[in-house]
Amino acid sequence: MLELYSSSIIDKQNVQFIMDDSENLNGFQDSLLKEYNQIFILYDQELKNIKSKILNKMKNHKRIIEIPLKAIESIKSLKSVSYVIDKLEKNNCSKSDAILSIGGGTVLDISGFVASIYMRGIDLIMIPTTLMGQADACSAGKTCVNGNQNKNLMGSLYMPKYVYNNVRFLETTSNHSMRQGLSEIFKYGLLGSRKLLKLLNEYSHDQKDNKNLISILKETIKVRIRLRKIDPLISNLGHTFGHALESESKNEVAHGDAISVGILLSLKLSLQRKKIKKDLFDKIIYIMNKLRLNMNIDESVNLEKMVNFMMKDKKSNGKEIGFVLLKDIGVTDKTLNKKFLFLNKKYVKNFLKNTFSKDDILVKNHWKKLIKSSS
Ligand SMILES: NC(=O)c1ccc[n+]([C@@H]2O[C@H](COP(=O)([O-])OP(=O)(O)OC[C@H]3O[C@@H](n4cnc5c(N)ncnc54)[C@H](O)[C@@H]3O)[C@@H](O)[C@H]2O)c1
Repeated sequence: MLELYSSSIIDKQNVQFIMDDSENLNGFQDSLLKEYNQIFILYDQELKNIKSKILNKMKNHKRIIEIPLKAIESIKSLKSVSYVIDKLEKNNCSKSDAILSIGGGTVLDISGFVASIYMRGIDLIMIPTTLMGQADACSAGKTCVNGNQNKNLMGSLYMPKYVYNNVRFLETTSNHSMRQGLSEIFKYGLLGSRKLLKLLNEYSHDQKDNKNLISILKETIKVRIRLRKIDPLISNLGHTFGHALESESKNEVAHGDAISVGILLSLKLSLQRKKIKKDLFDKIIYIMNKLRLNMNIDESVNLEKMVNFMMKDKKSNGKEIGFVLLKDIGVTDKTLNKKFLFLNKKYVKNFLKNTFSKDDILVKNHWKKLIKSSS
């Protein structure tokens, strides 16, 4: 199955998303790459099989330069950027060449960043291999590398020319990896698409329902592009709680797992403040359970530290903590004339204290269990 559609995302820039579920990568169109003299393949070094399959489809290209990368968070650094740029320079990479990136969000992020700055930008083709990559990291032109202390500190907005999404690549990813992707996709459903939530409700973990997965990806990409045009920070639903949990756990909890329980807390806060109706709240929780998203927090969480991290969130203003709260599907709540709902530290702390004491959210050794049970 091959589906190709274009999306004009940033002003005039068109991106072509190719969706495929064929074993032989039938949808991969070598002809799209004809215009380039040299192609630099930046790939996750663990994914030699996928890379070989792609190379088999590129037999017409004589000048292919391979740059293997380790898909670990620390590869998103200025040091690695300099390493890759050095390789491009030594091989006389010019504006007539392109970077083709194969991997999950880690490799896509650094590849995108390099493509955006080398000679003020050379063409970029993305071949994402994780659900997070196919739904999220390829779709809004956000490229980034980490600072010494802060994740995603530096970045640029730079769209790929083509994205080739083959859902077959996901068959070898772990449950843990799929859950992180589903968590982000679910968030986009809440923020902008009843259709996406319906598709997610029909999602089956046990069957390889590639048709449904392709529909999910297409709808996610559409919502993401739409939201990105309205306000990039709107996609921060659940992030005020989620980021604080990531920091408080010293990144022991993965991003998607932190965000899904962050969304749960945001929904409970919305309910407490009578923003969301109880029957919608219940429906959302039902889908979260069905998707097996993380809805718990490690018992060791330090509430004081967590709230202090929330005070430092980019949506907070130094005095109050800022939240994206949901009123309805696609409708967020805002304080009058402000982008977010602002609440003071004491209120948020009490809310968390009460929620933790009366609901079954805290679980012993939960962060470790999440990793162990998800191979
Ligand atoms: N730019 C964006 O908009 C954006 C959006 C979401 C996430 N991200 C970034 O993405 C990164 C996380 O990326 P990720 O979760 O996609 O994974 P990843 O690139 O970190 O890879 C995780 C693991 O999965 C393995 N892997 C990748 N594809 C595989 C496959 N098909 N089969 C088997 N194993 C495979 C990798 O080798 C690695 O061990 C983070 O750095 C995050 O900041 C960026």
